[in-house]
Amino acid sequence: MKIGNVDLGPLPVLLAPLEDITDQAFRLICREYGADMVYTEFISSEGLIRDAQKSIKKLCFDERERPLGIQIFGHDAEAMRHATIVAQEVNPDLIDLNFGCPIRKVVNKGGGASLLKDIPRMLKITETVVRTTKLPVTVKTRLGWDEHSKIIIEVAERLQDCGISAITIHGRTRAQMYGGKADWTLIGEVKNNPRMHIPVIGNGDIDSPEKAQEMFTRFGVDGIMIGRAAIGNPWIFKHIKEYLQNGKVSGEVTLIDRISTCQRHLLAAIEKKGEKRAILEMRKLYGGYFRGVPSFKNIKMKLLTMTTMYEIDAWFKQVSENNYENH
Ligand SMILES: Cc1cc2nc3c(=O)[nH]c(=O)nc-3n(C[C@H](O)[C@H](O)[C@H](O)COP(=O)(O)O)c2cc1C
Repeated sequence: MKIGNVDLGPLPVLLAPLEDITDQAFRLICREYGADMVYTEFISSEGLIRDAQKSIKKLCFDERERPLGIQIFGHDAEAMRHATIVAQEVNPDLIDLNFGCPIRKVVNKGGGASLLKDIPRMLKITETVVRTTKLPVTVKTRLGWDEHSKIIIEVAERLQDCGISAITIHGRTRAQMYGGKADWTLIGEVKNNPRMHIPVIGNGDIDSPEKAQEMFTRFGVDGIMIGRAAIGNPWIFKHIKEYLQNGKVSGEVTLIDRISTCQRHLLAAIEKKGEKRAILEMRKLYGGYFRGVPSFKNIKMKLLTMTTMYEIDAWFKQVSENNYENH
């Protein structure tokens, strides 16, 4: 699959943008384990224009993360144009437009998925951004606003006409938020629409190598994107890639692998954000890192109480020496 000049090879598996999760430290780890492309967390166009430090910091990335997309959101074409100019300064591989975020604080301001209710505005933003930058521009969106307005087939065509280089579709409506099951049939219909010629990336509920393969074969998508199943589980990329190539997955992830990857992740995050914040944010990922491990609950509960790397290192040492049952 190629997005503009960015060649992601056959059957690419992409890491989804995830707010407060897909920071630099985690993106690098996912790239190491085989994610073919990564995205920043969504970044507010208004924040970028105001030079808000929180937004500006999200533009930072490491060359080893490439190919990397910067995702921006907003409701105003002019603000999105400005934000594109700021974002392209750091030379990402592409700019991705978020037309899918369902959360109230974004939707109430007319951004994210609320643009599925205002297609003229969505198209104006897209055209403006495409005109502003030489980088490929992509869109990530949902099937529609709700059950009665699953308009993605027409919207995808019109976005393509604005000059985007790929579209990612999460198989839910805004009304579904993250509930129920993702419906891939419409994603498949977009892909099989003879008018579509840009790559179509499918997203929603892929949590195993088998499911990844099924989505490629049943729906013919050009690429797949993994979100929640990658949280604290970067191995999913390696396993999917192995399965797509050989029909099987090599070995289990050992406890030592989990500990050392989690430790590496935490150290990299501390370097960027400081110890306090990195440790707080890491609490969302322990569940993923240690799922399926015997005494998982015990390991996790203890980690959730720890506030320094010193304590965490000591606990990991104890866990790897198998002394943790009594604590
Ligand atoms: C905690 C969390 C944060 C998210 N942040 C973003 C975001 O910043 N930008 C975006 O386009 N989607 C975001 N999403 C949506 C995911 O990228 C993805 O579309 C969704 O989780 C469905 O894929 P999955 O079933 O593989 O998780 C977020 C989802 C979650 C659960």
